[in-house]
Amino acid sequence: MSDSWDIPSAVSLYNIDRWGSGYFTINRSGNVQVMPTQQDDSSIDLMEVIQEARDRGMAFPLVIRFQDLLRHRVETVNRAFQSAISEAGYKSVYKGVFPIKVNQLREVVEEIIDAGGPFHFGLEAGSKPELIAALAVHRDPESLIICNGYKDQTYVKIALLGRKLGLSTADLVAASQYLKEEGMADALRLVHFHVGSQVPDIGVVKRAVREAARFFAKLAKMGHPMEFLDVGGGLGVDYDGSRTAFDSSMNYTLQEYARDVVYNIMDVCDSEKVPHPTIISEGGRAIVAHHSVLIVESFGSIEKATGDQLFEIKESDPKLLADIIEIHRTMNKQNRMENLHDAQQIKEQAQSMFELGLLDLESKAKIESIYWRVAEAVVDFCRGMRYVPEEVKELEIALGDQYLCNFSVFQSLLDHWALGQLFPIMPVHHLQRAPDRNGTLVDITCDSDGKVNKFIDLQDVKETLPLHRIRPGEPYYLGFFLMGAYQDIMGDLHNLFGRVNEVHVFLDEDEDSGWYIEEIIEGSTVGSVLSLTQWDKNELIRLVKSQVDAAIKSDRLKPNEAMRLLNEYERGLRGYTYLDFGK
Ligand SMILES: Cc1ncc(COP(=O)(O)O)c(C=O)c1O
Repeated sequence: MSDSWDIPSAVSLYNIDRWGSGYFTINRSGNVQVMPTQQDDSSIDLMEVIQEARDRGMAFPLVIRFQDLLRHRVETVNRAFQSAISEAGYKSVYKGVFPIKVNQLREVVEEIIDAGGPFHFGLEAGSKPELIAALAVHRDPESLIICNGYKDQTYVKIALLGRKLGLSTADLVAASQYLKEEGMADALRLVHFHVGSQVPDIGVVKRAVREAARFFAKLAKMGHPMEFLDVGGGLGVDYDGSRTAFDSSMNYTLQEYARDVVYNIMDVCDSEKVPHPTIISEGGRAIVAHHSVLIVESFGSIEKATGDQLFEIKESDPKLLADIIEIHRTMNKQNRMENLHDAQQIKEQAQSMFELGLLDLESKAKIESIYWRVAEAVVDFCRGMRYVPEEVKELEIALGDQYLCNFSVFQSLLDHWALGQLFPIMPVHHLQRAPDRNGTLVDITCDSDGKVNKFIDLQDVKETLPLHRIRPGEPYYLGFFLMGAYQDIMGDLHNLFGRVNEVHVFLDEDEDSGWYIEEIIEGSTVGSVLSLTQWDKNELIRLVKSQVDAAIKSDRLKPNEAMRLLNEYERGLRGYTYLDFGK
């Protein structure tokens, strides 16, 4: 593979031109390049941002937000609806809202409101805190605040400050009757539905839109002054780039979605002879997913087949070891499967003997290492063959290295752990070289679930990711892409790792590089995450100090040494929660 390797090979291996949607590609230096406005002439080399963040003392993991990309998404979604409306001759307007549950970070919400200004783009709030935040940043009287979810009196009172209130589709018929009895028929103006997040199949969207439009029309005919039809969220993101109805993808484009929403509402309303409503949509992930990239440093890898010295055999070594070494030595393309099966038998025998106490740990380790070398050789022999047996494919997966990565799946990739959602993940540099290893990713939590072993693929799901062997002393950075929706705000405190460091990048023609870092948001410190679980920093220091004092008194520690320990402890409380490699 490496002889004919070039940048287009990397682009196709990681499929970046498909899931990247014109925002990401690989440049001639072999680094991932970001085009926040889909224009080649305003592009950013991701490694330059990483270098700048390092120079400013930022540690990894690091979230990089491209604010211009976020603005571009807001504009693109709004323009898609505007052009669908004018193409169809629809006789009303589109007024979208951003559901802030998808990313509540103030800088993200403010950027969206700002970019959405010309389109009267509003906000959707699903809880009291979200509503209180939304009311504060919502200044355009022509844009909407949509309030969803269950409500108590306070929520309704706060919502009425904004004078807009939506009800769910399921309540509409009963609500209509009730409102009429109370003389409030004109309070019902909006129909809202939400089929779910990340709807991969456009057929589902079309059917739901037609049904809701029918509700809307019937309610209008029942005497309510109906004005708005809110089609909820669900507009997909093509995480794997396959453009299919697979969960991590979508079988439609944004333009198709907008055209289908507009056309189906118009068709139903025309047949029912009711005026066209203002169309609202609450697409969240389609707006924010692309703008943020998580950069994670991989600091080591565990390979199954290692150690040439294992082939030196001593007289005291067991016969099984000599046998498996012989199997490996005599392997060729013709006998590969037979030799593999013999090696498997020896590995199983070694396991049984170990369990009975008849084999020492060192010999077991040697036998297993040589077994993995045999396996590696079989996989190599089968490479490029037209038919590769299933057992060899399984071996290839089992042979994958484990790349140790300084991050927490539970903090930064919760949807992957909880829902199996796939995100595009790839090295962000060295792509001028062919990746020479395949691996899975392991995080630094002490949890067996803290790993990534499912990766995007055009046909299916891949169990390993092509990666480069890590060179000692050189950092190896992986990018986790399309991370801006939900992952930022759903991360939990498993192992108390907390929020990661963050930089916000803006394009700027006046800068030599064409961009600058506007804001740095520091991630959680050890002290801050501890305080969230009722550990008071000062109390902790007091407790450790009393132990240190006792150790000095009983001559277990010298005073100098004791003070150094205490200082280290205090420094630890102020430090970043993730591993610090002292850069
Ligand atoms: C009521 C409502 N609207 C909008 C959204 C946003 O959905 P998405 O991010 O898939 O567009 C959600 C999220 O599930 C939701 O519950």
